[in-house]
Order: sequence, then structure tokens, then C-alpha cells
Amino acid sequence: MARILSGIKPTGRLTLGNYIGALKNFKNFQDSGETFIFVADLHALTLPIEPEFLRTNTRDIVAFYLAAGLDPEKCTLFRQSQVSQHAELAIILQNYLYMGELNRMTQFKEKSQNMNQNAIGLGLFAYPVLMAADILLYDANIVPVGEDQTQHVEITRDLVKRFNNRYGEVLIMPEARINKVGKRIMSLSNPTVKMSKSDPKGDVFLLDDLKVIRKKIMSAVTDSGSEIIYDDENKPGISNLLTIYAALKEISISDAEALFIDARYGDFKKAVADLVVAELGAFQARYYAIINSSQVEDVLNAGEKKARQIAQGVLHRVQKAVGLL
Ligand code: TYM
Repeated sequence: MARILSGIKPTGRLTLGNYIGALKNFKNFQDSGETFIFVADLHALTLPIEPEFLRTNTRDIVAFYLAAGLDPEKCTLFRQSQVSQHAELAIILQNYLYMGELNRMTQFKEKSQNMNQNAIGLGLFAYPVLMAADILLYDANIVPVGEDQTQHVEITRDLVKRFNNRYGEVLIMPEARINKVGKRIMSLSNPTVKMSKSDPKGDVFLLDDLKVIRKKIMSAVTDSGSEIIYDDENKPGISNLLTIYAALKEISISDAEALFIDARYGDFKKAVADLVVAELGAFQARYYAIINSSQVEDVLNAGEKKARQIAQGVLHRVQKAVGLL
């Protein structure tokens, strides 16, 4: 049976990009195998973050998972920090990734480029080591992520090859699984850059007021011309809106194009806005009911207990392989 694992870092308000690239996508996996979805709260410490902000964000993400339709009966939900085997495995695995390769990680380069080079935290540099531990600790073979995380899954694969070459078939080879539609949702105000938690302009946040969401979509940057066709080089704005539409409707881009063959930009944007507002409106209603109950705590208690059991088995196997046991 497939083992599926993924997570989200609680470092800011989640966006429509996270919803399409992760939340909505995770739900489609929970029936196809044993699914583990977690909050990467240890990873959140790799850049400065206020304790209260981290706490609130972490709880929110669990509520988002539930509001997006993840069913705790089918899918194990937990916080990375509360399953101590993540940290233990990372300490072992750090010996099998090299500083040269960590230095080439795009995310590390992006995040550290404007920092004082003498004050970059070791955790930020070693980010992929912990991420590899997250994945390998559950023998996951499928890792659903957006495009920006594929390099981290690749380096995990390199690690598995290196480790297994030395110790035999100990670690399971994971594979990134990327959405056909919606692997990289772009900013509405600048459709040549990714929509991200750290870039508030032009991004739709999941808890934005519905009127604000509508307004953001109606004022999304579009392109010259009048045709509604997918061409991400020459029409990045329209292509992004088509992607959002198709991903939420769960149809192909060409089916979405066909729906708007005679439409004008204004009508098309209105249809996208209607769809996003309907989807996020229902999502928000579920979120508010969950966040005001004790469901998050109950789900985490059960999920963390189960996660620890599985994780301990794999950690034990690794400890034996390297000679610690
Ligand atoms: P994070 O928190 O940055 O993002 C969570 C997920 O959302 C996807 N995503 C997007 N997808 C489409 N369009 C966008 N604009 C967009 N922005 C974000 C991301 O690709 C990701 O799938 N390092 C991870 C968390 C993590 C993890 C793991 C993931 C830690 N350990 C193990 C998988 C497996 C991260 O920071 O994701």
C-alpha cells in the first residue's frame, strides 16, 4: 500500500497557492494509501518567528487540514515537534548530506541572500536534512508538494541512494507527486512570481474577507489581447487565473479554456471570483466551527500517538543499520 506524506510550515497566513498546491490536493490522496500530514513547526524556527504567532499558526493549519476535508480516521495529523523521532533521525541523516549540496538549494539561496552572511542559522542551512527525516521516518513513497519543494525531495532521494549503498535497503525511496494543474499559483499583482505566505501584495489569503478576495481577483493583473487562452510566457496573468479556475473545478486547462472561448476578460474574472469566493466561503465556515472547538487538540493527541509508533519503528531500523544499536 502507498505511504503518502506531506506538510506545511506554519510561518504565515496560508494563501490560495497553499490551498490549491497542498490542502485541496492532500484530500485527494487520503483514499489512495496510508496518509500522514503534519505541521512543520520545527522548520518554522529556521527564520525568526514570534512564539505566539507560531502557536496560533500551528493550530490554524490543523484546522485548515480538517476544513479542507482531511479525515482523521483516514489520515494521521500531527505536529513535527511533538514526534521527537524527527529530530533524532535528522541528527543521524545530517552525516549523509554534504555542505556543498545544501549550499546549492534554491530555497536556501533565496532565503539567505539578503541576510548578514555571518548570522545565517544552521537550521536554515540544514533545512533539507530535517525535511528528509520527515519523509523517510514514515517510509513514504509519495510526497505531494508544489513545484517549489521538488528540489528538497530530490536531495532526499540522493540521500537514500547514498545511505542504502552503504547500509543496504534501509530507507524507502520517495517520489514527489506534483499537481498537473496548480503546481505553482502565481501572485495576482505580479503573475511572474509565486504567490507566497511572505508576500502580502496580490495574494489571496485563506481567511481574507470574502469581499476582499473578490476585489483582489477582479483587480488581478491581466495581459494585452482579449483571448482567454493558456500561454504562460505571453499571458501570465490570464494563464494564472485559468489555472486557479481549472484547479478548483478539478478540470483540465483546455476544458477551462473551452468554457471561456467567447468570454471577455471581465466576465472571465467574475467567474473566477465567484468560484474562489464560493469555495473559500464554505472552507472558512468549516474552519471557524473547528477552531472554536476542541477538535484540533483531540485530533493531534490521537495523531501524534500513532505517528510516534510508526516513526519509532523506522528510527530503530536506522539506528540498527548504522550501528547505534
Ligand atoms: P510550505 O509551507 O512553503 O508550503 C506548503 C505546500 O504548499 C505548496 N505551495 C504552493 N503550491 C502551488 N502554488 C503556490 N504558489 C504555492 N506555495 C506553496 C508547497 O509546494 C508545499 O507543498 N518545506 C515545506 C514543508 C515541509 C514538507 C516536509 C513538505 C517540511 N517537511 C516533508 C513535504 C514533505 C514547506 O515549507 O512548504
